[in-house]
Amino acid sequence: MIIARNAVELRAALDSNTGSIGFVPTMGALHIGHRTLIERARKENERVVVSIFVNPTQFLAGEDLSKYPRREEADFKICQLSGVDVLFYPEVSTMYTHDEVSIKAPDVRGYILEGAIRPGHFDGVLNVVMKLLNLVHATRVYFGKKDAQQLTLISQMVQNFFMSVEIVAVDTVRESDGLALSSRNVYLSKEERIEALKLSASLKRASHLVIQGVRKSDEITKVMLNILEPLNVEYVTIVNRRFEAIDEVLIGDTIVLVAARVGTTRLIDNVWM
Ligand code: PAJ
Repeated sequence: MIIARNAVELRAALDSNTGSIGFVPTMGALHIGHRTLIERARKENERVVVSIFVNPTQFLAGEDLSKYPRREEADFKICQLSGVDVLFYPEVSTMYTHDEVSIKAPDVRGYILEGAIRPGHFDGVLNVVMKLLNLVHATRVYFGKKDAQQLTLISQMVQNFFMSVEIVAVDTVRESDGLALSSRNVYLSKEERIEALKLSASLKRASHLVIQGVRKSDEITKVMLNILEPLNVEYVTIVNRRFEAIDEVLIGDTIVLVAARVGTTRLIDNVWM
């Protein structure tokens, strides 16, 4: 595995390549969710590139940038064992200068739900993903459905800027008890870890209701909110694939989303129907 720390090293590692490149952008603290994306990229491409970069511009003032888990050694090992060809591991000064040209998330979809609670977060995500995609020249780029709004906005950016990369959306990977894997799960105490199961439990119940024929969004979210009690719920909502709120579930075009704080840890989860 080649470790590239800047654009020149990355080009040197990839320029002789003629086959397809599968790219998995991450912020490190790799878990089985990330590994599943890497394995999928490994299966579908000749070369696999993973980036590890804790992108400062997607953290708001007061968020957990400085305490975001960093596990360089373990992450390098995981990448190596997963058959990654090139690990891109840049410094902040490699990725950003000052007074830059930047792009902005769409006014509505970039500033609702996650974007309302974390205004400007998606601007940071889109800018860094644009930079990373321009650096890697990937054939396919892999994102998790767990970050549904991020995935939707990146897909829109790729369309709006006529970027030639195929986006592959990967199902959320969960612990056996249902908890969606997240780098932030390490912040949870033993008791909070149990409380956190309410997110996936509420989504499971939503799926069952839909299977039973319930379609009204407000009926479903009411049941979910009961299950989520007494968590500090930030939102429970039902949207279509374009992230527009919908009154009724339409199978094949619906995402049920939940965001809540367990103690001080913010968790998000969703189910695609
Ligand atoms: P990060 O949170 O490290 O996630 C990297 C990728 O892993 C994202 O596409 C995310 O959706 C996916 N992922 C996380 N948990 C998952 C799970 N349980 N199952 C499946 N996929 C999962 O998302 C980011 O980093 C950043 O915003 C980034 C896109 C790298 C830009 O900085």
